Amino acid sequence: MSNDVIFRKMTLADIASVADLEREAFATPWTEEIFEHELSGNAYSHYIVAELDGDIIGHCGMWIVLDECHITNVAVRTSLRGKGYGEALMRQAMELCRLNEVKTMTLEVRVSNEPARSLYRKLGFQEGGIRKNYYQDDHEDGLVMWVEFE
Ligand SMILES: CC(C)(COP(=O)(O)OP(=O)(O)OC[C@H]1O[C@@H](n2cnc3c(N)ncnc32)[C@H](O)[C@@H]1OP(=O)(O)O)[C@@H](O)C(=O)NCCC(=O)NCCS
Repeated sequence: MSNDVIFRKMTLADIASVADLEREAFATPWTEEIFEHELSGNAYSHYIVAELDGDIIGHCGMWIVLDECHITNVAVRTSLRGKGYGEALMRQAMELCRLNEVKTMTLEVRVSNEPARSLYRKLGFQEGGIRKNYYQDDHEDGLVMWVEFE
């Protein structure tokens, strides 16, 4: 991972880049409009971006409600995967959760998404229940993963 990467709060000016990254990373990407709403109209949302040499190379979003956090999305540019950026983004999210006195983090992941499952396991997430036909595009099952802080 480059030492030049900056992790910071996402702003409205980042939306076009983040939406572009979404289209690269997901079959049903979140749109610009969704991110506008998330940043302007959702008091529970928190978004972190990873910036390298002025380019957004990753993002991670979450909703924090009382002492629970739900990870909404995490993605890294395809060409820059496997270099530690995804893990660093998730660690930033976990640190934000600790600062907000979150007790539990949850997320859903495609059952076939071994890179993401492995990342979450590495960070202490447990594998929980299956949500049948969770994903709209191909009806793949979603696996719920969660971690509890001390
Ligand atoms: C999941 C994702 C964010 C991981 O980001 P990344 O920057 O490539 O991951 P890192 O380099 O930080 O790797 C951290 C850990 O993730 C796991 N991992 C990453 N890539 C992996 C791969 N191809 N195969 C298996 N495990 C992998 C490993 O546990 C790795 O730890 P290690 O290096 O000690 O083995 C990235 O693959 C991505 O953007 N995928 C598309 C979007 C997506 O599926 N998001 C998750 C939705 S739930």
